Amino acid sequence: MIEIIGPLASPAASAAAGGGAKPEPLQKQLLERLQQAILAGRLPAGSLLPSSRLLAAEMGVSRNTVVIAYEHLAAVGYVVADKKGTRVSPLSSPSARGEPPSQPAAPDVAYASRVGQFAATRTHADNTFPLTPGTPALDRFPLTAWRRALERSMERASPLALGYGTPAGEPALRDAIAAHLRMARGVRCEGSQVVITEGAQEALNLCVRLFSNPGDVAWVEDPGYRGAKAAFNLGDLATLPIPVDAEGMAVPSDAWRTQPPKLIYTSPAHQYPTGSVLSVARRLELIAQARRSGAWLIEDDYDGEFRHTGEPIASMQGLVEDAPVLYVGSFSKTMFPALRIGFVVLPQPIAAHTAIAVQEMLRGGHRLEQLALAHFIESGEFGRHLGRMRRLYRERQQALRDALTEHFAPSQILGGNCGMHLTLRLPPRIDDRTLAERALAQGLNPRALSGFALQPRAETNGLVIGYGNTPAERLAPAIRVLAGLAAGLDGKPKRRPAATSGTKLRV
Ligand SMILES: Cc1ncc(COP(=O)(O)O)c(C=O)c1O
Repeated sequence: MIEIIGPLASPAASAAAGGGAKPEPLQKQLLERLQQAILAGRLPAGSLLPSSRLLAAEMGVSRNTVVIAYEHLAAVGYVVADKKGTRVSPLSSPSARGEPPSQPAAPDVAYASRVGQFAATRTHADNTFPLTPGTPALDRFPLTAWRRALERSMERASPLALGYGTPAGEPALRDAIAAHLRMARGVRCEGSQVVITEGAQEALNLCVRLFSNPGDVAWVEDPGYRGAKAAFNLGDLATLPIPVDAEGMAVPSDAWRTQPPKLIYTSPAHQYPTGSVLSVARRLELIAQARRSGAWLIEDDYDGEFRHTGEPIASMQGLVEDAPVLYVGSFSKTMFPALRIGFVVLPQPIAAHTAIAVQEMLRGGHRLEQLALAHFIESGEFGRHLGRMRRLYRERQQALRDALTEHFAPSQILGGNCGMHLTLRLPPRIDDRTLAERALAQGLNPRALSGFALQPRAETNGLVIGYGNTPAERLAPAIRVLAGLAAGLDGKPKRRPAATSGTKLRV
């Protein structure tokens, strides 16, 4: 029997050996071992268990321990006891019946139709790998200052701060964000217009729920941010891809008439992922047309704080009075992604009118972090951190640009006005998804540009390459590896491929 259920761990022996964790009592161990052996079919239905005396002797436990275990097994139906002894009952699990386990079938579930729209086009790679777009310099975040802000908010909070709180977020944080946005991004707002959300993603979902109905048309930049497409899909909207050129979103002249939108997603300060800046002429045109047709512009200002050259590009929301713009922001890049704090700035009258709906949709919470963030902003820590990161990203961007120019010229490099990524266009003969997959196998995580496209075209073949979380000195070796992999796909190596021996390369 001991070969079937294995020896038990003795509490006395473990104590004498100075063992760490205390084993379970013998009776519990014996019971579990017998149950597992029956369920796994190692003790098949009908098999006769040894007498309590014999099993006690074999396992080195008291007879009473075995008797209690057998009684328990009988009480729940694992075994039946009669005059001839104790036998294993016929159970319904295949392994208990001694049958080989079958492959689990795909569950026959009628999912909502929108679930099918999320094609598996993205490998969920570790977002801390070098070259990941969108991840900030995690090791440069001032954790000590953040810890102090958290401690301060905990010390000062009354027990009432452990309740749900205001659904739209802590008033102190909403005021701090509004003051910062007025000054740094030219946004026209007061704290009462700011709704705190779980990252920009929840802000996008909130815009969809507040301003659209299923079947409405939503325009989205193409190539564009997947999170916006996901939010529109979840709202059962008909998504219309709008091409992007060097001046940002290029709306076809008849689209306002043929496919009038309810929502328009745009990232004007630094189009994601091509990096173009939406020209003032197009901003004014979008605002005027949206006003005329009762549409809302969702302005995603995800990395506008990190401008590298010239004056900051002010928000579209602040360009004209009462623009029909829902300004969305996130602390995922300016602080760190795990914080999961974002926001949407609603136009003044709308904020008051939607307060009841927002109250039903959101539940507040994360109050201590929100209060800590408010203090972090007001005390100037946030501004100092942004200043340091701006300098760091400028330096990293230059290192990446130099390395790309050296290894990939004459391929076009897009973007770089601000933010934490550059986009490299590749000739169609180098398949970007294959290149991204091979890079991932080497521990590098650039993303295939075609993965951002709704309607893949020749110009959406390339790589979106992040430099935020990759030190400058590691960028050149990483790009050398990429160039080697690209040359392998191209069929005509331009340069000697870097050492890519199959082990993960630490760059
Ligand atoms: C274009 C864009 N918008 C917004 C975000 C931020 O989203 P969240 O705040 O949900 O992390 C990202 C993050 O990668 C992004 O790339």
